[in-house]
Amino acid sequence: MGLGSRAMEGMGLMRVLVTGSEGYIGTVLCAYLLDRGHEVTGLDTGFHRVGWLYHGVDRSPAWVAKDIRHVAAEDLRGFDAIVHLAELSNDPVGQLNPEITFEINHLGSVRLATLARAAGVQRFIYMSSCSVYGSAGDTDSTETAEVHPLTAYAKCKVLVERDVPSLATDDFSPTFLRNATAYGASPRMRFDLVVNDLAGHAWTEKVIRMDSDGRPWRPFVHILDISQAIDLVLRAPRDLIHGQVFNVGSNHQNYQVREVAEIIADVFPGCRTQFGDSSGDHRNYRANFDKIRDVLGFEARYDVARGAQQLLEVFRAVDMSTELFESRGHTRIKQIQHLLSTGQIDARFFWVRPPVPTDTGADPATAPGSGTVARA
Ligand SMILES: NC(=O)c1ccc[n+]([C@@H]2O[C@H](COP(=O)([O-])OP(=O)(O)OC[C@H]3O[C@@H](n4cnc5c(N)ncnc54)[C@H](O)[C@@H]3O)[C@@H](O)[C@H]2O)c1
Repeated sequence: MGLGSRAMEGMGLMRVLVTGSEGYIGTVLCAYLLDRGHEVTGLDTGFHRVGWLYHGVDRSPAWVAKDIRHVAAEDLRGFDAIVHLAELSNDPVGQLNPEITFEINHLGSVRLATLARAAGVQRFIYMSSCSVYGSAGDTDSTETAEVHPLTAYAKCKVLVERDVPSLATDDFSPTFLRNATAYGASPRMRFDLVVNDLAGHAWTEKVIRMDSDGRPWRPFVHILDISQAIDLVLRAPRDLIHGQVFNVGSNHQNYQVREVAEIIADVFPGCRTQFGDSSGDHRNYRANFDKIRDVLGFEARYDVARGAQQLLEVFRAVDMSTELFESRGHTRIKQIQHLLSTGQIDARFFWVRPPVPTDTGADPATAPGSGTVARA
């Protein structure tokens, strides 16, 4: 029996809490897990709910509107597993306020894992990132390679991976998924990710616009393949995933950014290619993905060409305009800056409840961030 089949012998279906369920990956992941029979609940503070590009999932879980910093152990009781996605999710947002990034991404995640263990949750799947390899250059980093995080965002991933393993017990198994850079269509779309951004420019302007000179290496993975990896970890026998770190992606999807540009050019014909300068992006890393294939039987079903084709079909279906492509709902930093500048979130990124007129009958307890359950 192969290791892949052994992985399928594990826990089977589970009661899963997905944090960050209202985000780019979370929206697709929740539908994926529901389709495979898991009982799923979401939890998200809802920073990016405004960014809904198209109708793309038929199933969404009930979700709790709550900041992870306000979660209590009783919120977590009864779940078999937590898949933890809810963080400030990229370098620019992380750099905006590194202190708050550490508060949410490092301390918030470690606190959540601590509460999960206290609440009797058995598995804690953490969404780390291959960006921990930072500037490793041309070598394919395995999970045991040295890490070189370059930003507050990537440093927090390393700190969570440093602190959470000590919580592991016979009854509590954390697993760390170092995902490659994600791409692919999600109803709650992000255009601040390389493949999606290049495809969006190709569609709206007929220009394939790179920030860098195109030489940096980056591994890529489709969000449905990330979802597949998470499902495999949920189902795997405990000894295969207990305290383990897995790179999530595939060896053939380590690309130089200019190769990605060429693939996009094939899918979006008639585009001009524009390079940035060599100082545009310091991240330069490749990763080795043997472990997740050998231990969990993971095989990526998508590549960048297929993902770009999927994006083209979505852009065509919604007749995507430049305005929509550039709107704040699809670029994390624009939306966070908007929420800050309008005072909808405070300096610590907590929602500020706007005054609710008493004669509307609106119940202030249903305002965002108040911890009530809503249907997405
Ligand atoms: N997208 C990628 O390329 C990629 C790659 C590697 C790892 N990851 C990780 O995967 C996770 C999800 O990424 P994504 O691309 O879906 O990002 P996203 O920004 O679309 O989703 C993150 C979600 O978390 C929520 N959130 C943020 N802070 C919160 C808080 N304090 N309390 C409750 N909810 C909060 C946001 O409202 C948002 O819906 C993140 O942890 C990210 O670092 C993403």
